[in-house]
Amino acid sequence: MISSAQGSISDNMNGRHEVYRSSKSALNQLMRSYAARHADDGRALLLMAPGWIRTDLGGPKAPFSVEESIPKVVDVLISKHGRPGLEYLDRDGNTVRW
Ligand SMILES: NC(=O)c1ccc[n+]([C@@H]2O[C@H](COP(=O)([O-])OP(=O)(O)OC[C@H]3O[C@@H](n4cnc5c(N)ncnc54)[C@H](OP(=O)(O)O)[C@@H]3O)[C@@H](O)[C@H]2O)c1
Repeated sequence: MISSAQGSISDNMNGRHEVYRSSKSALNQLMRSYAARHADDGRALLLMAPGWIRTDLGGPKAPFSVEESIPKVVDVLISKHGRPGLEYLDRDGNTVRW
């Protein structure tokens, strides 16, 4: 699932983008619930916070291009393969606080 660092409630010190933040927090909650219900099935579940990227949504001021971001996102996806359970990770593979 493509989440966002803006979905983190713990790291929300600046506010702004409240509706977007809320939608990603809701996605995170949905995945927490799914993972809890299916705790025994051994699937790898990932909430990805890809960073601020220059797309239509991210806008021209975002620091990272799609070309430099997506390989990192894919690396994290591949590294998660075979590691059961839900994690909320950024594109460097670091855990994001809920
Ligand atoms: N860019 C960032 O900085 C950033 C950071 C964190 C997370 N994310 C997340 O990454 C994901 C992709 O974002 P992006 O930056 O690549 O955004 P984007 O360039 O604006 O692309 C959004 C994509 O969603 C599709 N879409 C929008 N509304 C839709 C709908 N109602 N039904 C079906 N498809 C719809 C668009 O399709 P059309 O092209 O056909 O309109 C487009 O392909 C999003 O979940 C976003 O929240 C982005």
